Amino acid sequence: MGNDTLTIPSPADFHVHLRQGEMSELVAPHVAEGGIDLAYVMPNLVPPITSADQANAYIQRLQELAPKTKFLGTLYLHPELTPEEIQRAAASGVRGVKSYPRGVTTNSDSGIEDYEMYYPVFEAMQKNNMVLNLHGEVPSDEEKGICVLNAESRFLSHLEKIHQNFPKLRIVLEHATTRAAVDCVRRLGETVACTITPHHLDLIVDDWAGRPINFCKPVAKLPDDRAALREIIREGHPRFFLGSDSAPHPLANKYPSASSLGSAEALVHNCGCAAGIYTSPILLPLCATLLESFGALDQLSKYVSENGRRFYQEPAANGKTVTLRRVNQQVPCVYVHPSYSASSDDDSKKLQIVPFFAGKTLTWELEQ
Ligand code: DOR
Ligand code: ZN
Repeated sequence: MGNDTLTIPSPADFHVHLRQGEMSELVAPHVAEGGIDLAYVMPNLVPPITSADQANAYIQRLQELAPKTKFLGTLYLHPELTPEEIQRAAASGVRGVKSYPRGVTTNSDSGIEDYEMYYPVFEAMQKNNMVLNLHGEVPSDEEKGICVLNAESRFLSHLEKIHQNFPKLRIVLEHATTRAAVDCVRRLGETVACTITPHHLDLIVDDWAGRPINFCKPVAKLPDDRAALREIIREGHPRFFLGSDSAPHPLANKYPSASSLGSAEALVHNCGCAAGIYTSPILLPLCATLLESFGALDQLSKYVSENGRRFYQEPAANGKTVTLRRVNQQVPCVYVHPSYSASSDDDSKKLQIVPFFAGKTLTWELEQ
């Protein structure tokens, strides 16, 4: 391996949103384009995926859209989810269950409010070797002093308690953003792991305040929090790995404008910006560029392949690798669904997504 190429075993993204309908058609093939062979896909569709049959139909659809990628399915933790359905799901190849606290992010209106009521489901998951994926934030609540900046650290006691009650249940704290979360996962046992997104390795609060392209949940935190994320990746800790949380939203939902909303009144009521950062098509070159920027390029293979695959018991196929080459490349400013021609005049009607790092330079590219 020279200084200008890097070969790593088959990369996997253990947290990605691939949506449905036209959006899926556009984004599912981007996973392979970003250098990823295996994608663990989130269930927050509309309506959410709550049964084994739904999950399998969804994975089959993604597989048709992007035959080169292996997709793994999940269920959305929900009051109607029964231990029997967990067993059925596990037997049919569904690998995990994702928990969203109610109302904290995109399509989380059906999210959970109390974990103890799910103990029978967790028990069945533990028995069937399924993974529990936790969106680790509690809902904002002014009376309790909870806001987006401490929503993750205030969640950690829930993680500890679930782990104490189900020590053999494999749990992933998703998209950690704080030093407190990193310390907590490190302290807990072998069955608790943590995904870290590339964007949280790059951003701090200042980068999303007023900039919709960098706004996601959980929000990026303080410089010391980002330093903790970088340190744990630089260390190559075996229970921390890539889950991109790549989460596409149409341009019009990230940047609602007065003209698209029609009236000043509509704007006042609907001007919120959708939470989500899109990285799928550039994922591996982005990870290499960022890890190199903070002196962790030698840990790239652990971050994007080895650690996650070990935890999920999904070893890379023998000899399957991806090679990156050191070349400057500019990230496109927008991805457009192929059914809309570039020259078609009405931009507002096209399905367009602005990726993370749009217009910026990556220092690595995939060797074709
Ligand atoms: O920013 C986010 N976007 N965070 C999530 O947890 C969900 C995701 C989405 O689905 O858009
Ligand atoms: Zn997510």
